[in-house]
Amino acid sequence: MVTGGAGFIGCHVVKRLIRKYPAVRVVVYDALTYAGNLANLADIEGQPGYVFVRGDITDAAAVERTMRNHDIDCIINLAAESHVDRSITDPLLFARTKVMGTLTLLYTASRVWEDDTGGKLFYHISTDEVYGSLGFGERPFTESTPYAPRSPYSASKASSDHFVRAFGETYGLPVVISNCSNNYGPYQFPEKLIPLVINNVGNNRPIPVYGTGENVRDWLYVEDHAAAIDLITDRGVPGETYNIGGGCELSNLGLVKMIISLTDRRLGRPKGASDGLVTFVRDRSGHDLRYAIDHSKITAELGWRPSTGLEEGLEKTVDWYIGNTGWLDNVTSGEYMEYYDRMYGGQ
Ligand code: NAD
Ligand code: DAU
Repeated sequence: MVTGGAGFIGCHVVKRLIRKYPAVRVVVYDALTYAGNLANLADIEGQPGYVFVRGDITDAAAVERTMRNHDIDCIINLAAESHVDRSITDPLLFARTKVMGTLTLLYTASRVWEDDTGGKLFYHISTDEVYGSLGFGERPFTESTPYAPRSPYSASKASSDHFVRAFGETYGLPVVISNCSNNYGPYQFPEKLIPLVINNVGNNRPIPVYGTGENVRDWLYVEDHAAAIDLITDRGVPGETYNIGGGCELSNLGLVKMIISLTDRRLGRPKGASDGLVTFVRDRSGHDLRYAIDHSKITAELGWRPSTGLEEGLEKTVDWYIGNTGWLDNVTSGEYMEYYDRMYGGQ
């Protein structure tokens, strides 16, 4: 059962599992919030092995029914509110979904599986943001870096991670956690930096860069994350944590410039045509300066490493958004523009 399987990362994970393991049934359990979209899973609709259930992870009865109806032996939990800016305006929603939702899943799984945890797995997808903010020159996060969340997004995620470990220790639930860096690629909701920039270049809209644009993120192509999730589901050791990252640190301003130039080129515009769209705006409150991930554990123990370089990944991503304007128009109509005006003051 993949919760949040109709979201950005979830849809890549589900499609990979369906294609690679024809004998396995994959149940997508998703509430279809603004970020969840059945169009993300359209390619596998009707395929044997794929089942969609609309449901909320905070609804214990629905989770239990789904687990029992489909004889679920593995949960990959990707259901969450995922956008840091939204956590600043609506922290209660983040606590509800990520803390109470994850706790509800854990509690239900521990009851449904109480007689036999053999071959079962509760796999929780977490983020590098729980480790806090790194200074320039500090060493990347390892699995033993202490948690130091600084936003309602990362605090609610850290809390959910603690509950996952507590259920492993207290109830013997076979749990595993992975903490990944920033993903990018097709199907990402355009509130996030990379698709937002591509969309704004396409529409000649200003590109909001928070603060000075010096903040650094470590970028990973989403299909590499899906491959790591597949591997951990198969071979991850219960009780363990795995860090996943792209080994690809870049300042926001550097990244924005790369995307602008690539998008202009793909749209057949002259070099530098959209450079003037860059607009420095008020910084995000509590904006973490830098994230960097040491992924040597998963490389040494499970043999995973990122396979798509940034330039190649960005090219694929820009091409996908340019070739899928229907998808983009659909998700940027209605609520998105209201959100955008609230966030960026109609810029
Ligand atoms: P997303 O916002 O694109 O998708 C989230 C999905 O969860 C949506 O399909 C949504 O409908 C569903 N959902 C939300 N609330 C729900 C609820 N109460 N019950 C059931 N379904 C619900 O998010 P994403 O970027 O795909 O991230 C997935 C997970 O991976 C999140 O936990 C996120 O914190 C984590 N993560 C994301 C990144 C990243 O760069 N995007 C990096 C590391 C970790
Ligand atoms: O590190 C993993 C995390 O990456 C995940 O846990 C989150 O779910 C995911 O949303 C992402 O969080 P970030 O806050 O790093 O991603 P976002 O795309 O929102 O922002 C990336 C950087 O760009 C960040 O430093 C803020 C900045 N930014 C973002 C937006 C949306 C801007 O400068 N302008 C913008 O308009």
